[in-house]
Parts: sequence; C-alpha cells; structure tokens
Amino acid sequence: MHADLLCCNEACAAHYPITEVIYNCPACGGLLEAHYQGDPGNPWDLTGIWRQRRMSNEPIESSGVWRYRELFPFLDSPAHIVTLREGNTPLLKGARAAEYADLESVTFKHQGFNPTGSFKDNGMTAGASQAMRLGMKRVACVSTGNTSASMAAYASAAGLDPYIFIPNGNIAYGKLAQALEYGAKTFQVDANFDQILALVRVLSEKLGIYLLNSVNPFRIEGQKSIMIEMLDQLDWVVPDWVVLPGGNLGNVSALGKALRELKQWGFIDHLPRIAVVQAAGSSPFYCYMNAPEGAAFVPDTHPETLATAIKIGDPVSWPKAERVIRETNGVVEFATEQEIADAKAIIGACGIGCEPASAATLAGIKKLRARNVITKSDRVVAVLTGNVLKDPDYIYRYHTGQLKAPDDIPIAPNFGNRPVVVANDFDQIAAMLEHGR
Ligand code: F0G
Repeated sequence: MHADLLCCNEACAAHYPITEVIYNCPACGGLLEAHYQGDPGNPWDLTGIWRQRRMSNEPIESSGVWRYRELFPFLDSPAHIVTLREGNTPLLKGARAAEYADLESVTFKHQGFNPTGSFKDNGMTAGASQAMRLGMKRVACVSTGNTSASMAAYASAAGLDPYIFIPNGNIAYGKLAQALEYGAKTFQVDANFDQILALVRVLSEKLGIYLLNSVNPFRIEGQKSIMIEMLDQLDWVVPDWVVLPGGNLGNVSALGKALRELKQWGFIDHLPRIAVVQAAGSSPFYCYMNAPEGAAFVPDTHPETLATAIKIGDPVSWPKAERVIRETNGVVEFATEQEIADAKAIIGACGIGCEPASAATLAGIKKLRARNVITKSDRVVAVLTGNVLKDPDYIYRYHTGQLKAPDDIPIAPNFGNRPVVVANDFDQIAAMLEHGR
C-alpha cells in the first residue's frame, strides 16, 4: 500500500507528499490526513499475523500500535519508530457501572494503561516517529496536559527536544509533573488552550519546530490503533456503540477514520454508532450538532469544566468529527459537572478508575440510556482516555465533599468515600469495624 497526504476537503482533494511539513491544506485550509492507495492485504491473513506478533518480545511487534502497522504504512523504514510499548490496553467489564447506567453490561477500553497514562501515547508514538523520519530536532505542542506528558516522554526517549505550552493553572498536577520529569521545556501561558494553540502554530512554523498537536496527521494515524485493537480484542465482532469524551475532537476523528478504512478494506461489514460526550460548560460540538440544520459552528470563547482535559472551546477537528458522527449515525451528548463526578466515582468503585474527562463517557451513556437512544441490551464500549492518578486532587475533593464546579456550586459527594481520622486506639478502631463503619 502506498501513502500520500490528501486534503480532507473532498471538493478540494489536493495531494501533498507524505514528507512535507504541513498540517492544513495550503489550497483550502482544511486539515490534512494520510491517504493510502491500494489495500493492505487479506483481512484473514493480517488478523492472524497480528495475533502472532503479540507473542514476540520485539518492541515493534509487541507494541499495541505498531503491531497493526499494515493499516498505517506511512513510514518508509522501521528504523524511525519510537516506541515505549504503547497500546495493549485492556477491555474491562464494569458490573456496577452497567447497573448505574441501566445496561446489561458495559465494557471499558482503558487507555489509561498506556506508558504515560493516556490514549495520547497511541498517536504520539506515530507522530514522534514521523519527526525522526523528517530529521526534526525540536517538537512542540499545546496541551490540556496529557498530550504534553506523552510528547515529553516520546521526544525525550527519541533524543528530540520537547517544548510544551500549557494553560497556566489549568492542568492537573499529575500531568504537569510528568512533563517536568520527562525533561520538557515547559511554558505555562496565561491564556486558554485555544488561544495558545493559535500562538504555537505560528511559533512552530516560524522557528521550524515540528508540531505534535492532533492537527498533526500522523498522530491521527497512530490513534486509529485504539479502534483496531478494540475490534481485535472483540474478535472483530462490531459493538453497537463506542462512546468517548470529546475535547479537540482528534480522537473521534481518528477512531472514525479507522472504522471507515476497516470497512473499506473488508475487516468489518458495518460500523458501530459513535457517541461523543462533552462537558456541559465546554460543549460547542454538542451545541452545533444539536442545532437546527444549517446553523454555523460557534466556538465557545469561555469554556469551563473541572474535567480540564476537555476544556476546549474551539476544537480544530470539528469538521472531521461531524463527518464521523454522520457516517456512524452517531450522537453527541453533554454531561454536567455533577454527572461527571458521580460517574467517575462509580467507575472507581468498579476497581477500574479514570480521570474526570474519561468519566464523561459513563455519564453520557446513562443519559442516552434514560432517553432510550441506547437500549438495555446494546453492547457498549466506552473509551476511558486517562488514568485515575492523573488528577488526584479532584478525587480527594470529591470524596471529602470539597469539590466545587467552576461556577462555585458545590458538587455533592453522592458516591463519596470519606477517609476516617482515628486515634491510635485498638478498642476504638475495633468497635468501628464491628459496626461496619
Ligand atoms: N480525554 C482525555 C483524558 C484527554 O486528555 C483529552 C484531550 C480528551 C479526552 C479529548 O480528546 O481532544 O481528541 O477530543 N486532551 C488533549 C491534551 C486536548 O492536550 O492532552 P480529543
């Protein structure tokens, strides 16, 4: 299969070489994406090869991204691959979460098991590998936290210099700590994500720094592996729904591209429905998709949510995401701060855990189930995008009744689990345990 870059805008459909450093089409402004001529081979043969690779100790074979490389063959040499053995993330059943959402069962695809604790690693391994192939020395991103943690790790592992731009005071400490520990030059900018992205796009172009935000088409290629691996783990039986949180909308674009290609190449014969869930205070895509036909996309200039990972008002990939929702007969839902916090505690009580943005999935599923958009027996897979330890401050505040929404309204610890302060006294502790407290 041969790769070249194609403009996303089908009316334009301009092609550019795969080695050109561009993210938007110079002709029409649309986001570019990788396009492949031909097909990757017989699905039956390939799925067998992928299974065998799992048993290998070779880094590239055992990576849950590069194992599937026939479906994103944009590199010309495996020597450029930068891998930390990403992917290989589990499918986990959550009985209590299913009961909470009134479903027979729900499955979580937990991307928090990745090397830096989020789904970003699936895309970053691909973006960093392309940076190596192009001979880049410096890489940059703006981030609500996870992209920066991931980019810092992959860049440092590859010997590239990472430059990170984050909204000052608005990312979870676990993520900031990772960026510092992995050795990234970190700029905390007094602006929101959308404003900083505009700045960093100009900076990277003028200074010749490779941009590794999700506007980078190779990040999207790597992220396709989330869907490919999920279907592999489901023995290629397509679920009824795949549910994910939406921020900049790169992930839904990647998962949708994977589905489109898997169907085109004969791996699946139909598509699951995709549901994207946004935080209520940061939901421009929800508003757009639920507005009357013909309404324009209106960015939110003051996005607000405690789920800082998805605090984005002007998502760059909304046109691609719209295409995915339409192609999959999908839906876009929103969840309030209280709904996200409660759903997160339920996922935690399953022994699974995730960061706030990820919990928007279960909150959205519960609402879609209540309206019977999702039926009780539907097979639902929710993508948990980040690890529970990314944002411990949020957890402590919720369980101790101190969590407040951005508008200062207290969030009730409906499923709270307050720690108990006790004296170092055997009788007192034994009495408490006897009474089940
Ligand atoms: N969940 C988590 C944990 C995230 O970190 C993000 C995005 C999303 C969901 C939304 O994904 O943007 O592809 O729609 N985080 C980016 C970052 C923006 O900078 O780490 P999306």
